[in-house]
Amino acid sequence: MASSRKVAVVTGSNKGIGFAVVRALCKSYEGDVFLTSRDEGRGQAAVADLNKEGLQPKFHQLDINDRSSVDQLKSFLQATYGGLDVLVNNAGIAYKNADPAPFAEQGEVSCKTNFWATLDVCRVLFPLLRPHARVVNVSSLVSQFAITKCSPAVQGRFKDPSLTMDGLEKIMQEFVDAAKAGNHQDQGFPNTAYGTSKIGVTVMSFIQDREIRKDLREDIVINACCPGYVATDMSSHKGTKTIDEGADTLVYLALLPPNTTSPKGNFVSDRTIQNWG
Ligand SMILES: NC(=O)c1ccc[n+]([C@@H]2O[C@H](COP(=O)([O-])OP(=O)(O)OC[C@H]3O[C@@H](n4cnc5c(N)ncnc54)[C@H](OP(=O)(O)O)[C@@H]3O)[C@@H](O)[C@H]2O)c1
Repeated sequence: MASSRKVAVVTGSNKGIGFAVVRALCKSYEGDVFLTSRDEGRGQAAVADLNKEGLQPKFHQLDINDRSSVDQLKSFLQATYGGLDVLVNNAGIAYKNADPAPFAEQGEVSCKTNFWATLDVCRVLFPLLRPHARVVNVSSLVSQFAITKCSPAVQGRFKDPSLTMDGLEKIMQEFVDAAKAGNHQDQGFPNTAYGTSKIGVTVMSFIQDREIRKDLREDIVINACCPGYVATDMSSHKGTKTIDEGADTLVYLALLPPNTTSPKGNFVSDRTIQNWG
């Protein structure tokens, strides 16, 4: 029979900010904490590193781009815990500035992982969320900048308070198609693949908040956030924050106390709600 023990899952946590989130949760969360990684070896090595610090994260393989991997995690959580209490959607990718890959490819691949794969994880795992669950979607302040670079018409579509998830997916697909056609700027989209993918993550979080408020399960809190500029492989270690400093806002949002009304459905940076867009 499934245990009713609380459980937290952090995606993309074999290194970088996600790794530091697992480290912090192992110290402060009253439940099991899952370090997940698309590569079993990198994940187990990260668990061993935390073991050396006296911490005991659990491990599960998770490639957010692989639907069967996401489904396997769901089945495992269902059978072992009967639910899910904290989900930190941290896994993400970014092309380096100097990467020669054409914009068409960068647009498609960035949106596929950062937006659609994160949305897939949510669609599969949200049915497991228990009352008082906390969901943290890791976006970026780059999304805040990128939205200002959209045409007024595109900004209006992203910010429409009645936008549905289907509607958001349609806009994101329009961006990918326009990037392939080489006319994304003519269509009112910004000239940033990563930034647009993270607009998707931020707006997705607002829509999820609107949807979950109608759910019968009480007090589920979903927020988007930015960790700040963090020294990781993604930033070529140029970021000014350590991974533990970068993890701070994510952990704060993951541990929001029962019956939190704010932040809820917000974009948060440095533990502060940002006026997004
Ligand atoms: N660093 C910053 O300054 C900064 C600023 C704003 C936002 N962010 C966001 O913060 C999050 C973490 O970034 P980071 O700086 O810690 O980057 P990172 O060091 O490159 O780590 C990214 C993590 O995501 C994992 N990942 C990538 N694709 C995946 C997939 N398909 N399935 C599962 N895991 C996957 C990576 O696994 P592998 O090791 O297998 O590649 C790695 O564990 C990202 O969402 C990023 O966009 C970072």
